[in-house]
Amino acid sequence: MIKVWTDAAEAGLLDRYGERGSAFSYLPATTQARMVSMTMPVRLASWNVPFGLPPIFEMNLPEGFLRERLRSAFAKATGSFDEFDLLSIVGRSQVGRIRYTGEKEQLHEDVPFQSVDEILARKRSGDLFRYLFEKFASFSGISGVQPKFMVRDEKAFAESEHGQHLRQSFRGATHIVKLWEPDEYPQLAANEYFCLTAARKCGLDVPPFRLADNGMALVIDRFDVRADGTYRGFEDFCVLNARRTDEKYRGSYETSVMKRFTQFANSTHVGHDLEKLFLLVALNCGLRNGDAHLKNFGVVYDDVQGEARLAPVYDVVTTSVYLPIDRLALTLNGTTEWPTAKQLRRLGETRAGCTPAKTRQILERSAEAIAETATDVLRYAKEHAPFAEIGRRMLQEWESGVRASLRD
Ligand SMILES: Nc1ncnc2c1ncn2[C@@H]1O[C@H](COP(=O)(O)OP(=O)(O)OP(=O)(O)O)[C@@H](O)[C@H]1O
Ligand SMILES: [Mg+2]
Repeated sequence: MIKVWTDAAEAGLLDRYGERGSAFSYLPATTQARMVSMTMPVRLASWNVPFGLPPIFEMNLPEGFLRERLRSAFAKATGSFDEFDLLSIVGRSQVGRIRYTGEKEQLHEDVPFQSVDEILARKRSGDLFRYLFEKFASFSGISGVQPKFMVRDEKAFAESEHGQHLRQSFRGATHIVKLWEPDEYPQLAANEYFCLTAARKCGLDVPPFRLADNGMALVIDRFDVRADGTYRGFEDFCVLNARRTDEKYRGSYETSVMKRFTQFANSTHVGHDLEKLFLLVALNCGLRNGDAHLKNFGVVYDDVQGEARLAPVYDVVTTSVYLPIDRLALTLNGTTEWPTAKQLRRLGETRAGCTPAKTRQILERSAEAIAETATDVLRYAKEHAPFAEIGRRMLQEWESGVRASLRD
């Protein structure tokens, strides 16, 4: 049995149920303010699923690389290894406001300290992955296929350039360190670094991100941590669509992203956020990101019953440099072909409530941001030989992306 906590208070119990499913019950006296997801209000009846975990509890389970490594490290002890086991391992340190412990345990995050500067300046010798795995794997309640860890920066308590600093009592992770597998996705960190740069140049909200000197890691500030050391709620679009993680490529940008957002936003800023969401979809097309699936968009909130805002941007990559026949992750206009500018404009007009002039302006803004970032890519490629080939291919992809999807 697993105890589920929201905002550091006990909310309910989760247990295996049936042959392969699970059941979740709220504890008596739990108020709606403690509900685990906008999609699962407090009620007397339990929330049951026949397979695996309800989407909100599955949301932050590591996929791919980290999951396999955790399986091989822990399966020996338990004999078998399922999602329930994985949640027990990474449950105490998670993205968002939910935590998981044993039934009788109290909540202690206590993530070990790590110098982020040391990672960035590659002062740590030896195998960075192995070092981070041993120290942080069980604190990395974070989804995604690429190898990554959640770490607690030892400098997080110092005054930052934004004047923000965390309370001394804060014991959670402050940063996400993303690594990559050299054989499959060479230079992925630099690739993402420049795509996020383009997103920031468009005026989208992107958390601070830094590239290690040798390009081996990308370090991103968590956007769900508040300065007082408490957490904002986060739910990705798999959860909002009641889909499991393995259904993250199922759905359309029109319904499963744009329309779904309006159904949950519950906010006076919904019009503004929809424009940003449309801008992000358009930018992904211009950058030829074929991995903008349901888990790569999300909402954040301070109060689960209050306003939900579009989450800051994350995980934007020019995937077509690795998969030349790459296409959209979700459908647009009933197909996963890259859209034309005309089709994108129709998305803006019909789903984001933009005027024709506004949609043109948004596509142009993305195209300009990509052009400006291209200069940064060229400069970086000159100074970093291992990136030169991927950099050259990225610029080619951007050129055709902008030509076909952002301009007529
Ligand atoms: N800055 C951030 N703050 C908090 N949570 C984040 C942040 N960036 C990403 N996340 C969360 O971590 C998850 C994994 O991150 P990300 O999408 O970057 O990894 P990935 O391995 O590249 O994913 P994919 O499997 O889509 O390739 C996201 O789906 C989101 O839930
Ligand atoms: Mg992702």
